[in-house]
Amino acid sequence: MLLKGKKILVLGIANHRSIAAGIAKVCAEQGAQLALTYLNDRFRKSVEKIAADFEDPLLLPCDVNDDEQVAALFATLQEKWGRLDGLVHSIAFANQDDLKGSFEETSRDGFMLAHNISAYSLPLLANHAKPLMAEHGGAIICMSYLGGERVVSNYNVMGVAKASLEMSAKYLAASLGQHNIRVNIVSPGPIKTLAASGIAGFRGILDEVKERNPLKRNVDPNDVGNVSAFLLSDFSSAVTGETVHVDAGYHILGM
Ligand SMILES: NC(=O)c1ccc[n+]([C@@H]2O[C@H](COP(=O)([O-])OP(=O)(O)OC[C@H]3O[C@@H](n4cnc5c(N)ncnc54)[C@H](O)[C@@H]3O)[C@@H](O)[C@H]2O)c1
Repeated sequence: MLLKGKKILVLGIANHRSIAAGIAKVCAEQGAQLALTYLNDRFRKSVEKIAADFEDPLLLPCDVNDDEQVAALFATLQEKWGRLDGLVHSIAFANQDDLKGSFEETSRDGFMLAHNISAYSLPLLANHAKPLMAEHGGAIICMSYLGGERVVSNYNVMGVAKASLEMSAKYLAASLGQHNIRVNIVSPGPIKTLAASGIAGFRGILDEVKERNPLKRNVDPNDVGNVSAFLLSDFSSAVTGETVHVDAGYHILGM
């Protein structure tokens, strides 16, 4: 088992379709003990349902916009576990109006909102995780998308936020490396989830990617979970600041 005895915090489960749900499942199968968070009461029940499949999970609220709630989350982890081995950041949000049309029409508030939730939350969470990981080392992963490296229709402000997230991960890898805390980026291909349903024309993206990518299939949260488990495990002990595409090879394509 890749993650036997490791204590891993997973942020970003909304329902059973969530990429974070797939990651949590594989981590649990690989022997990890999990803490799961839910955004607010609207999501509590569905995350509770997923948590019921795991052994002795912690279930805690966390809105990354709420500094007190973030601090309370890590205080609870300190009290219950006293350490943290892994952190999964699988969080993003943008106004639906900013996920279609012309990028230059993005409002200041929409730009700030997307960056605050989808990118700033990574250094925020990493800073809280640091004292819980610093003694023995740890691993942090976050979810990006090709639209953070190249222009993808309608991804707009979220693409710019993903670019910020990816560079945040690299700066964190550089500054936390001295504590043996590794920070890596997973870049999945498109998957039908709640967040993805906000992107205009998402169905068409799924079809095109499936038709064109080398493996001729779409990816699923289990594919992402497998790679995430590797990056959270000691099998990737010398890998940090890396981006791993879990996209059936789509990102290698030119014409
Ligand atoms: N689905 C895809 O096609 C795809 C592809 C590549 C990357 N991703 C990324 O994967 C990650 C997970 O998305 P998903 O597709 O599983 O969708 P999802 O809707 O299941 O998950 C998004 C999560 O973000 C959480 N969230 C939003 N605002 C938050 C806040 N203020 N505080 C805390 N949590 C908040 C939601 O509660 C939800 O659990 C995101 O970063 C997304 O951009 C998704």
